[in-house]
Formats: sequence, C-alpha cells, structure tokens
Amino acid sequence: MQTNHPLQVEPNGLDVETLPRPIDWRELFGNDHPVELEIGSGKGTFITEQAKARPEVNFLGIEWANWFWRYASDRLRRNGCTNARTVRAEASFFLSEFVPPESISVLHVYFPDPWPKARHHKRRLIQPPFMQLAHRVLVPHGRIQVVTDHQGYWEENIEPVIRSAAGFEVVDYTRPGSAGAGEFVGTNFERKYARENRPFYAIAAVKTDAALHTAEAPSS
Ligand SMILES: C[S@@+](CC[C@H](N)C(=O)[O-])C[C@H]1O[C@@H](n2cnc3c(N)ncnc32)[C@H](O)[C@@H]1O
Repeated sequence: MQTNHPLQVEPNGLDVETLPRPIDWRELFGNDHPVELEIGSGKGTFITEQAKARPEVNFLGIEWANWFWRYASDRLRRNGCTNARTVRAEASFFLSEFVPPESISVLHVYFPDPWPKARHHKRRLIQPPFMQLAHRVLVPHGRIQVVTDHQGYWEENIEPVIRSAAGFEVVDYTRPGSAGAGEFVGTNFERKYARENRPFYAIAAVKTDAALHTAEAPSS
C-alpha cells in the first residue's frame, strides 16, 4: 500500500519490544484515565475519531499488519491524539503478556478477520480462550463490543461464544458517538461493506463476575 506522504510511527506507535510486561498504563499515558483497547485497528479510523472526541479516555490500538499499524500510528500523530497509542502485535499474545488484570474498561473488536475456509476457522479470534483473556483484562463491569459482516463467523463463533462466556452478560450494543448516521461503528471496513449492502451483526457484553480468573483457592 502507498500514501502520498511518508508514514511516521512515532510518537503514537509503540515498539512492543521496549514495553514493560505488564504495562503501567499510568506511566504510559501520564494519567489515571480509563483505558480502552481496539483489536485490529486497521487504518485507525475508529481509534482516531474516538481519541479526538473523548480526551478523558486513553486508547490503545492493537494491529498485527505492519502497514496498517504504521498508517494508524501516523494518523494519530497527524491528528494530535496524545491520548492514543498503537502497538504492532498479535492481540491474544499482547493481552496475555502485556495487559495487567482488570485494567481495561472497553474492548472493541470491529470486523475481525472471518477466516472463511473451514480449515482456517481455528484462527478466528473470538473463541472461548479469547473470552477468558478478555475476562482477565477487563475491569468489573467492563465491556466488550464486536461487529461483523460475516454471517458464518457470527453464527458459528461470535454470538454463541460471547453468549455462553463465563462471567459475561450480553447487553444492548452501544453505537460509539463517532459512528455516522445508520452506522454501527464507522470503520473503513464497515463503510466498504455498507456500499456492498452487506448485513451487519453486533453484540456487546459486560463482565459480571470478577472472581473467575483469580487463582484457585488452595485445597485444605
Ligand atoms: C477486516 S480488518 C478490520 C479493520 C478495522 N477494524 C475496520 O473495521 O476497518 C481486520 C484487521 O485486524 C487485524 N488483525 C486480525 N487478527 C489480528 C490479531 N490476532 N491481532 C491483531 N490484529 C489482528 C488485521 O491485520 C486487520 O487489519
């Protein structure tokens, strides 16, 4: 992919190799504001609009693809978003290695890769182990929001996995304020798929039980 300007990763793009495990959000952002994570932030449309609209919240975008990570990092810089960072990392690895327990207020997952071929379904992000990771990193009453256009992913994984996830309760999906009229969230993929008249599926759940991921009590 190309742009008509060179992409500048710093200061918003973080080098994952230099980050402490776990991350200290207060040290990273210089404040105690709540932290929201977006997994698969793509070109950074959502995180940029949210960071601009909600300066009282800190945002981190996790993106595996190098060019998209660089593009989103540069876009945050161009927009002067001091309350947002990005990392180039695989999301499950990043959540388990870098994110402290009970430190995230919202997990946003918009248009996760559907891996449509049956032999690739195991690569889909929304599976029971991911929900356990989500449960570990979310604060009590923290929220996860997922939107997809892919009926198979929705029916086979997203809806059943989230509905049956231990320690979560499904609630009404909330459209972010940056979503345009008629949009669920307003990402690049949503806008592209809307032009193709694809259906969309959205779900939200809140964490209800803070005890599930704590160590088992020692047997007497
Ligand atoms: C279909 S795109 C959606 C991008 C954006 N959310 C949107 O709606 O425009 C999915 C993005 O998630 C990224 N991605 C997929 N699996 C990932 C993972 N396990 N960890 C981090 N990023 C991932 C991909 O590189 C891709 O940029």
